[in-house]
Amino acid sequence: MVKDGIPLPPGSAAGPASPNASPHRVLLVGFGHVGRALARSLHEAGHGRPGFPWDVVAVVDSRGAVLEEGGLDLEELVLAKERTGRLQGPTYRRCRASELIAQVAPDVVVEVSVSDPHTGEPGTSHILRALAEGADVVTSNKGPFALRYREVQEAVARSGRRIRYGTTVGGIVPILETLVERLPAARVQEVEAVLNGTTQFVLSRLSAGESLQSAVAVAQARGLTEPNPSWDLGGHDAALKAAILHNALFSPPITADEVPREGVDAGVEALAQEARAQGRTIVLQAHVRAGHAEVALVEVPLSSPWAAPGPLNVFQVTTERAGTLLLQGPGAGAEVTATGLAADLASLETSSGPCGSVPSHPNAFADPWTARASWPPAPPARATSVLGRQRRKIRGGAPLSTARAAEEVRAW
Ligand SMILES: NC(=O)c1ccc[n+]([C@@H]2O[C@H](COP(=O)([O-])OP(=O)(O)OC[C@H]3O[C@@H](n4cnc5c(N)ncnc54)[C@H](OP(=O)(O)O)[C@@H]3O)[C@@H](O)[C@H]2O)c1
Repeated sequence: MVKDGIPLPPGSAAGPASPNASPHRVLLVGFGHVGRALARSLHEAGHGRPGFPWDVVAVVDSRGAVLEEGGLDLEELVLAKERTGRLQGPTYRRCRASELIAQVAPDVVVEVSVSDPHTGEPGTSHILRALAEGADVVTSNKGPFALRYREVQEAVARSGRRIRYGTTVGGIVPILETLVERLPAARVQEVEAVLNGTTQFVLSRLSAGESLQSAVAVAQARGLTEPNPSWDLGGHDAALKAAILHNALFSPPITADEVPREGVDAGVEALAQEARAQGRTIVLQAHVRAGHAEVALVEVPLSSPWAAPGPLNVFQVTTERAGTLLLQGPGAGAEVTATGLAADLASLETSSGPCGSVPSHPNAFADPWTARASWPPAPPARATSVLGRQRRKIRGGAPLSTARAAEEVRAW
């Protein structure tokens, strides 16, 4: 059942299988946009009332923590944090997340802090600590899966706990779940995807004739960008997500540093307008195949789903045995991400088999079907980048207008 947007496990009206069952003790690491949106959802769904399946007993941010067995008042915490920028309460004290995880020994750690784009810290350490302390983990933090995938999965295997990170790619679009839970026997060959809704939004405005400066200003005014827009526009965020998609599907894992990426700069303005004149537009598209992922600016027909207005995400999954799948939907935003985290939290309650723990160790799950060792991947098909073609054009090569339109974006 769903209550106030939170998918509750089957059982009593309030949620858990037995009204007398103890709620699962949850520790929330990070109380920024996503953490607070999740806290608001849990509060609205009945957190603190008898029979509610989760009890958030501790919240920690970069400075300190509040801790209350029997459940925190999430509404009050959110209001105080939004008013003062700080966690507040009689139990407030300065401490680090890893210490608190060890001290509280929660059933579930919801990790929604940040990660350095090169080290994956502090998020990775929080997750490793949670697993070592015997907690399940639900997270939207990309760094641990784009930079330290092997380490995290080894810790999952060692701990026997479950981890769900479906919101790291695609927001509420269940792309990781689809790849890992539904498609192992289908043999996924390639995933092509628009992974950064902000860039998609900016590119669609460039295509309509707006300048980059103005399009970015509108994106900022609508709250669509990170504090530093170059994180989105430079393709960094898309590269992290491309690595996560790769690692969920293929072994051995890669890191985001190994993903070649292009990004949007003022030079793309003219390309976007030129494409528009031919009924096409430019998108920042990830291409993921076994052993290879890249992020490139490619030209697509304006009439294709790739041209979906930002901030939507778009995924095309090509399989050997089940044809081609298309998925599209809201790819980010605190509310959207919190909705996915709530679903992940609920899924820990309702499932225990490989599907329930997915995507904890998808490669192990997929092995019986795909016999990876005897399934040599096709050589990576490089994306046909408009920048690459532009470079060729500058050197006297084929002009943009002669590009092979249909082959770049297949099957629409
Ligand atoms: N926002 C989205 O649409 C979205 C979508 C998908 C994934 N994500 C990911 O979800 C995570 C949270 O996103 P967000 O938008 O909520 O970020 P945010 O608003 O910047 O919040 C980050 C939170 O993490 C806390 N934090 C930073 N360092 C910490 C540490 N060492 N220990 C404990 N807490 C720490 C911050 O503490 P202070 O409050 O003290 O600064 C803040 O509360 C990020 O990893 C992000 O990449 C976000």
